[in-house]
Amino acid sequence: MDYTEKVYDHLKNPRNMGKIEDADGEGTVGSPVCGDVMKIYIKVKDNIIEDVKFETFGCGAAIATSSVLTELVKGKTIEDAEKITNKDVIAVLGGLPPVKMHCSVLAESGLKSAIADYKGKQDNDRKRQGG
Ligand code: FES
Repeated sequence: MDYTEKVYDHLKNPRNMGKIEDADGEGTVGSPVCGDVMKIYIKVKDNIIEDVKFETFGCGAAIATSSVLTELVKGKTIEDAEKITNKDVIAVLGGLPPVKMHCSVLAESGLKSAIADYKGKQDNDRKRQGG
């Protein structure tokens, strides 16, 4: 596979891999292209994503893209994190082979799904508190 040095770096040494037990939001997405699965966990305080971790049951590019994604997301507000796309991830990696583009889409969808889960939980809390 024709990967950049940066992809191999994240592949060999993935950042923020694992699970957040008491996550404020989590998202699980599967790729319709290959069937690989990715989970993203976020921990949020005062609207800032303080911690983010991923578990990927997928290919090397999926691991590298989720690893980069967690680096991009950490410390961002929810609104800024929502703006991150797979193109941002690919730019950091210096490109991906065309057959691996969908892997980066998986990372973006995983993040969006985790944020949606977080927002849903916020709404529920608000309702419970009567406001
Ligand atoms: Fe499916 Fe990469 S080949 S996520």
